[in-house]
Formats: sequence, structure tokens, C-alpha cells
Amino acid sequence: MRLRELIVERARANGPLTFAEYMELALYHPELGYYARAGQRSGRAGDFFTSVDVGAVFGELLARQFVEMWSIVDAMGNRPGFDIVEAGAGNGRLSRDILDAATRTPRFYDAIRLHLSERSKDARRKQADVLGPHADKIASSRSELPDGVRGVIFANELLDAFPVHRIEMTVDGLCEINMDTDGDRLVERLQPVQTPAVLEYLERLGVALPLGSRAEINLLALAWIRTAAKRLRQGFIVLIDYGDDASQLYGAARRHGTLAAYRRHTQAITESEWRDAPGDWDLTSNVDWTSVTRCAEHHGLRCLGLLDQTYFLLGLGGAEIAASQTGDGLNGLKRRLAAKTLLMPGGLGSTHKVMIYGKNVGSPALRGSSYGMRVT
Ligand SMILES: C[S@@+](CC[C@H](N)C(=O)[O-])C[C@H]1O[C@@H](n2cnc3c(N)ncnc32)[C@H](O)[C@@H]1O
Repeated sequence: MRLRELIVERARANGPLTFAEYMELALYHPELGYYARAGQRSGRAGDFFTSVDVGAVFGELLARQFVEMWSIVDAMGNRPGFDIVEAGAGNGRLSRDILDAATRTPRFYDAIRLHLSERSKDARRKQADVLGPHADKIASSRSELPDGVRGVIFANELLDAFPVHRIEMTVDGLCEINMDTDGDRLVERLQPVQTPAVLEYLERLGVALPLGSRAEINLLALAWIRTAAKRLRQGFIVLIDYGDDASQLYGAARRHGTLAAYRRHTQAITESEWRDAPGDWDLTSNVDWTSVTRCAEHHGLRCLGLLDQTYFLLGLGGAEIAASQTGDGLNGLKRRLAAKTLLMPGGLGSTHKVMIYGKNVGSPALRGSSYGMRVT
């Protein structure tokens, strides 16, 4: 059975699905979902590019930040070892780039216990191969986050991939954009909001959407940061993702919402392109950094940085790599170009923000946030 038919049957039997239920199936159905099906999802042969596709430089710069975090946690005594937890790790290629760079600091490398948290079983199966010489560093590989983490939990483009509720402000009040059937086709159906947590979310922000505006509410992002905050005993959380603060995200400039569908590096122009083909398209939405940070702080985390990716990477020495004359030949050139691509304002460097939180580590001045709270 195709995923579209399964969703049509479910809507006929139980009534319209919330958009979050539709997106959950479209991305994560265990056999038919976008992320469950084998094949390359990112990179030239896939559907989208992340900073990891640009080259190993991204992992190398993150490793510099993690070395500093390790030295802070290590200086605080109690237990040896440093947990590096990658959430939404896919096949583990970013962790591989980080561990490749970590070998240059042997004491740090020896301390690392690597935990990979990834929903897709298919991706998890590939991790040991992708990690290659570092495979014996894998302390756990599961869907969930590990507990009692002393070190760093990080994620690149995880929260934007969580299923979201969609809403629209109509003349009859706030409605949820649900998914229903019309014959054999999937169509959207506006219904009064039935998910109390969606209303509470907007109330907490004090947001009233303008008439006709659409928006996404990512309840799972809050659930994730809550869990991460609980499972981190001492250390840091680093989240890299595209997003905005709530005033921008729910303001007039974004009145169509930020939900986007991608296939083969092309963004769908109309919703009818992807609505009837669940499982074939990647669906994402911008992260609401205001709500994530408030939730993080409510659960005992301290915000230590909020920057454009460009400034985060500049603080870690990205500009020196872009300008370096060492590593001649094709590899040197590729490395310099990769660093430039990551730093270039207007590209990945501006759309992507880096959030850094700490727990039981005080308020250290980190290299990655040396440019302060810089967002464009
Ligand atoms: C956009 S991909 C990013 C992959 C990788 N981090 C990168 O930068 O290339 C999102 C990944 O997060 C995984 N994922 C989604 N929800 C998750 C969750 N709750 N826990 C762990 N992994 C999750 C997906 O299966 C997918 O592999």
C-alpha cells in the first residue's frame, strides 16, 4: 500500500488528521516515510544540502568548540570521560568528521564517548561503517537521547524536521489546517483548533496572528528540549538550525508560514505538488527560537549564545581556514571553498542560527559565542 492510500483510509475512518499527524507519517512512517526509505537524502544526489555536505570543515570547527567544552567540564572534576551526543545523527557522517578532527587532540579523543540518537533504523544500521576507525567510540545508538549526559548534546537540522501543527487566522477565529479527503485526493480542511497545547503555545508568546496569516506550531521541539535538559547532567547543548525569533516568525513578513517541501534540490511552489505524494518530499519549517529558549531556561538551561552560523564559525577560526595557504592542491582548495561556503553571509551562514545552552557549568565565555549574541 502506498502512504497516500494509507492516509486517505485513516482520514475516512477517523476524520481529518492534524497536519502534525500527516507530517509524522509522511516523514517517519517506519517503511514508507521519507526518512525511513533507503537512499541518499542529502548531498548532490539527494533532495537537500546541509552544512555537512559542504565538507569536513564544518565538523572540524565544531570539534574545536567541543574541545573547549571538554576542557571546561574536565576542569570541574568529578568523573572522567566526555559524552558527545549527536541527535538526528543520520548515518553519523558529521560525528565522523568531528572525531577525525578530534584525533589531533589525543587526550580529548580518548575521553570521548559517542552517543548517536537517530529515529531512522536504516540510517542507524549504517553508522558503524560510516564511523570507520572511530566505530569503537560509539557508546550507544538509539532513537532516544541517552540519560546522565556529561558533555555536549548537539544537533544539526533536527528541530526543523519535527512534525508541526499548522494554523490559520480566519474570520471565524483561529483554525487548525488539517488533512482530509475529497474522493481519492488529500485536501486541507480548516477546523477550529482542537489541540489545547497549540492555543497555550500562542498564549505564552502573547501572539495574535493577523487575519489570513498561516503559521506552524512545533510542540515537539519543546518536548525535545525538555527531555534534553533533563538528560544533560553537566555540560552543553548546541543546536544549529534555521529559524527566527517569535516576533518575526509570527509577524506579517511570514504571513504564509514557513512550511517548505523539497525534492531534488527544488522547493515546491504550490502545496498541491506535495500534498498527494507523502513520503516523496522532505517537509520542514523554521524553528521558533524564542519558545525553544524560554522552554530551555524553564528547565534549568542557561542560554550562552545565539548567533548566525557565520559568526559562530568565525569565532572558531573559520576565516583562517578560508584564507589559509596550507594544504595546497585540490584538497586545500576544496577546504578553503568549503569554509567560504559555510561563512558566506546570505547563504547557510545567515539562514542557520546556532543556539548554545549550558547546565551546571556557570557562564563560560565560549569561542563559538565570542561575537556575542549576533543574529541578522
Ligand atoms: C534533516 S535530517 C539532518 C541529518 C543530519 N543531522 C545532517 O545535518 O545532515 C534530520 C534527521 O533527524 C532524524 N530525526 C527526526 N526526529 C528525530 C528524533 N526525535 N530523534 C532522533 N532523530 C530524529 C531524522 O530521521 C533525520 O535523520
